[in-house]
Amino acid sequence: MNKKTVLTGIRPTGNLHFGHYFGAGKNWLKLQENYEFYLELADVQALTDNFQEPTKIRENVYEITKDILSIGIDPKKVHIFIQSKIPEIAELTVFYSNLVTMARLYRNPTVKTEISQKKGLFGANGEGVTYGFVGYPVSQAADITAFRGELVPAGDDQKPLVEQCREIVRKFNSIYGDVLKEPDILLSKESRIKGLDGNDKMGKSLGNAIYLKDDEKTIHNKVMKAITDPNKIRKDDPANPEVCMVYYYHKLFNQENLSTVCQECKKGRRGCVACKKELIEKINEFLQPIREKRAYYDQHPELIDQILKDGSEVAREIAKEVVFEIKQKMSIDYFSE
Ligand code: TRP
Repeated sequence: MNKKTVLTGIRPTGNLHFGHYFGAGKNWLKLQENYEFYLELADVQALTDNFQEPTKIRENVYEITKDILSIGIDPKKVHIFIQSKIPEIAELTVFYSNLVTMARLYRNPTVKTEISQKKGLFGANGEGVTYGFVGYPVSQAADITAFRGELVPAGDDQKPLVEQCREIVRKFNSIYGDVLKEPDILLSKESRIKGLDGNDKMGKSLGNAIYLKDDEKTIHNKVMKAITDPNKIRKDDPANPEVCMVYYYHKLFNQENLSTVCQECKKGRRGCVACKKELIEKINEFLQPIREKRAYYDQHPELIDQILKDGSEVAREIAKEVVFEIKQKMSIDYFSE
């Protein structure tokens, strides 16, 4: 049976949090069963806006690998690899860069938004933006095509990047001959999850993230601060669970008791402190096996190295084949070594 190839990437800039888990990780667990799955730790891309902090990126390559493994991604099924270990991606990036105009890159909505969010780095009007950053969609097209990626699981913020990759593929094929496949985005069905502070999004920069590696005390403190129905003053006041972030999280972690939680809250038979404590317990139950796996890898750092080495080796074999074909098409296949 020929499995379809799935490729996705993640910038190693910080640990994975619940937003990553519900928006992506949970879906990866399903995909690993039925696809040829490449999971790239995009360190080179992360450096485009973190070039001053290389050690932070390096540390997070290891941290994220542990996060990924702890949720149950199986390195026998998924090729977890490091972008910088695949020099072929850099080669492809150079070849593709002729096929993209500067205007088109500046028009990429994701790139545009990111430039405006990084005023400290790129200037108030983006006047200090680097060549590397504006060009990262080209490098991401190389990430995808280097492994003949057919499906790219990602959030809708990645749509413009996959679209730009498709354009590069079409242009390449029309000039040099059919060799590359246009990838499709596989939009995650689960939308992003809200923060306990009521923010529509959970994020590191928003300061509202709950990390997969958070310990019990941290979980306790974070949940205790969650926003509840502001009209509920006393413990036995009836309240509206639909405006309560604790209830929102019960939906994620406590499906089995959800109707009880809801009814008791509405009838004023459930105090917020007790309700939060129940949620804390449920979150800890969910995190228990994740913590155990993580502890195992913390004690065996050599396994992480081996997994990344193996994943990168397998990935590189494919990338070499693709670059070989591409060089033939581009008439730069001078002599074989
Ligand atoms: N741009 C993605 C992000 O910021 C990360 C990424 C790098 C990626 N290479 C990729 C995603 C290839 C999908 C496919 O999250």
